Amino acid sequence: MKKKLHMQNSKLLEIAKDFGSPIYVYDAEKISFQYTRLTSAFKKVKQVKLNYAVKALSNISILKLMKSLGAGLDTVSIQEVKLGLTAGFTPDQIIFTPNGVSLEEIETAAKLGVQINIDNLSILEQFGTKHPKTPVCIRINPHVMAGGNTNISVGHIDSKFGISIHQIPHILRIVENTKMHINGIHMHTGSDILDIDVFLYASEILFETAKNFKELEFIDFGSGFKVPYKEGDIETNIEEFGDKLSKRFNEFCAAYGKELTLGFEPGKFLVSEAGQFLVKVNVVKQTTSTVFAQVDSGFNHLIRPMLYGSQHEIENISNPKGRERFYSVVGYICETDTFANNRRIAEINEGDILSFKNAGAYCYSMSSNYNSRYRPAEVLWLNNKAHLIRKRETFDDILNNQIEIEISDKKKSK
Ligand SMILES: Cc1ncc(COP(=O)(O)O)c(C=O)c1O
Repeated sequence: MKKKLHMQNSKLLEIAKDFGSPIYVYDAEKISFQYTRLTSAFKKVKQVKLNYAVKALSNISILKLMKSLGAGLDTVSIQEVKLGLTAGFTPDQIIFTPNGVSLEEIETAAKLGVQINIDNLSILEQFGTKHPKTPVCIRINPHVMAGGNTNISVGHIDSKFGISIHQIPHILRIVENTKMHINGIHMHTGSDILDIDVFLYASEILFETAKNFKELEFIDFGSGFKVPYKEGDIETNIEEFGDKLSKRFNEFCAAYGKELTLGFEPGKFLVSEAGQFLVKVNVVKQTTSTVFAQVDSGFNHLIRPMLYGSQHEIENISNPKGRERFYSVVGYICETDTFANNRRIAEINEGDILSFKNAGAYCYSMSSNYNSRYRPAEVLWLNNKAHLIRKRETFDDILNNQIEIEISDKKKSK
């Protein structure tokens, strides 16, 4: 049930012309569609809460859009918590799920009133001892191998995330000794998980774990839904998953004797397909083996192909009906910087605008100033209008926070 991006190429070209390239463009309608699709899949559960994973795309206007849809936030740093509060979320709408951060950072978040989620025994014991009255959620590692890539498979036995299910007795001892209040139980097994049986299997482990805690208010099943990256691509069957998990969740609540909230924290599912990244072709370079389309961007703006080997569909929106040829689309960074290899794309000329699809999640938010390049601008397409939601950086941004010290010229001082 995929809804095609409805943004027309003419609009995208206009945006590139008006605001320049490279530029990220997000379609609010697609985000809203995905939000409704996920909540509808769980309509048989009384209390469902979607906490949008801020790390996927953290622009404050996107957060406000999420708020308008009814989402809460899943945050992983105190800065994300503050962004959420700045966007107008109340602390009770935010869950803080960090990994490997200091006790101080967790205490700061707790002071702000957000839901704390702890994923290691050491901090659990320290936090519980100092703040037994603050409700805490526990992130469990269910030891399930899932995820589209080893870097994003986080629920397996060798992963640094969560507290092992085999350590439940130790968790219970800490809870009993500190008299802390555990109000939630959580897992996140990885991103890009296609097989819903993996989710369901891990969910059973979470249900089993949840039985040990008598004061739960919610169970958070994390995220990791796979979205399609190209026409005909397979994706997580959300509707079937919703049906099956809702049934099991309702059964669990009946046995537990309390209506709990079912939580998810989707990032990719909500924003990946809503985003497009527009770049301009600087040079078309023929070599003995290939034709390179060299664009005005690089892995400093979109690192996913180089980091995860992800395949973003690329369309030449300046010449969509042109004869298809094979290109390697590369960036301007001073090392191998490949967006796509040997890809069939409508004929590319210098000056053409290319659109990278699925550029909503983990794209802008993972960008950097490598090679002292400016980070791109961002536009939100909302109510049939392009809203600039982040300006392109300038040279001042590159210098910002740098401290120039006096260094005498060695040659002169001789
Ligand atoms: C704890 C946690 N929750 C949610 C997410 C969002 O996952 P996705 O973007 O696959 O929906 C992540 C992603 O890394 C995560 O680490």
